[in-house]
Amino acid sequence: MSLKPFNDNFLKACKGEEHEHVPVWYMRQAGRFQPEYRKIREKYSLFEITHNPEVCTEVTLLPVRQLGVDAAILFADIMTPMPAMGIDVEIKSNIGPVISNPIRTLEDVKNLRELHPSEHIPYILDTVKLLREQLNVPLIGFTGAPFTLASYLIEGGPSRNYYFTKSFMHSNPEAWHLLMDRLGDMCITYLKAQIEAGAQAVQVFDSWVGALNAEDYAEFVAPVMNKIFTGVKELDAPKIMFGVGAGHLLEEWNKLPVDVIGLDWRTSIRSARQQGVTRTVQGNLDPGLLLASWNEIEKKTKEILDQGMETPNFVFNLGHGVYPQVEAETLKRLTAFVHEYSSKIKR
Ligand code: CP3
Repeated sequence: MSLKPFNDNFLKACKGEEHEHVPVWYMRQAGRFQPEYRKIREKYSLFEITHNPEVCTEVTLLPVRQLGVDAAILFADIMTPMPAMGIDVEIKSNIGPVISNPIRTLEDVKNLRELHPSEHIPYILDTVKLLREQLNVPLIGFTGAPFTLASYLIEGGPSRNYYFTKSFMHSNPEAWHLLMDRLGDMCITYLKAQIEAGAQAVQVFDSWVGALNAEDYAEFVAPVMNKIFTGVKELDAPKIMFGVGAGHLLEEWNKLPVDVIGLDWRTSIRSARQQGVTRTVQGNLDPGLLLASWNEIEKKTKEILDQGMETPNFVFNLGHGVYPQVEAETLKRLTAFVHEYSSKIKR
């Protein structure tokens, strides 16, 4: 049991309530930039870690202890629920998820199975419960969004141009919408199970949806996103929407029943506000900058904070995940800087 009082800055910022300092967490805050994580990875694969609640809890807690962040994110992958649906996936080092039976036909979509969390992924729910016993900051659960998941399922692995995905979407709309629907149901079931087990906020990663233009997004993706967030609306946990290179989709995202919109570094906080985003904004330091000198990091962070703190509903994060080359010390210093700068300035 943690003895420190519960730090609720993150949850308050998500809800737009007054709080003490700008909360900070980092996408991919547990991972290869940490020597301790690399040591654990010598013994266990990523899937072995996530199947073992004790080890998975330890990995999730590492950045909370080391960096002083205001939230923990469950250590898992967006592919975690895929084997239960009948997808044969392996996470390859430095590549990402690789799928041996990619989806190419309506029949393939129909063969996808339903996720039953307590039967298929009890270890994830056990990890959430263990974490809640030990954490003094909120725990964020997550899922991959249908488009991003479908891009892996259809391409068979990571992709630059998503041409199999886009051609499937345009030439086989019936199969595409069924795929979105099945993945959307999975997202609702999975998020509900995580929240019921103890997750206090959830983020939906639609990392690669920026590959679509706004028109295709509205037709092929927006309906399922609306269904997902409507399906989890009543659950008591802020919902965060995130994608990379998706500034042109802000108007669409702004229609979703979400509490927080996550931005990458291409869209400034001010420009999102000017485009009518009034809810909580999360972001958006360029993760590449973490490899630059501290002066540069500090300068850009101040700019982001000055924009973010114009309203009380702002969460500091990176615009995407931490790269393995980053020094843990840099993230520790950055966290302390955000806390100090935001508690000094009167809002
Ligand atoms: O943020 C966290 O600390 C929680 C853990 C987390 C992982 N993956 C662990 C992981 C989260 C939230 C994810 C989400 C995820 N996975 C996304 C959405 C977020 C994003 O980055 O856009 C995506 C697209 C994936 C798919 C995936 N898994 C990729 C592209 C990779 C990278 C390949 C590589 O080796 O760089 C992975 C592997 C992965 N997921 C690692 C970790 C810690 C590295 C695996 C290792 O230890 O070798």
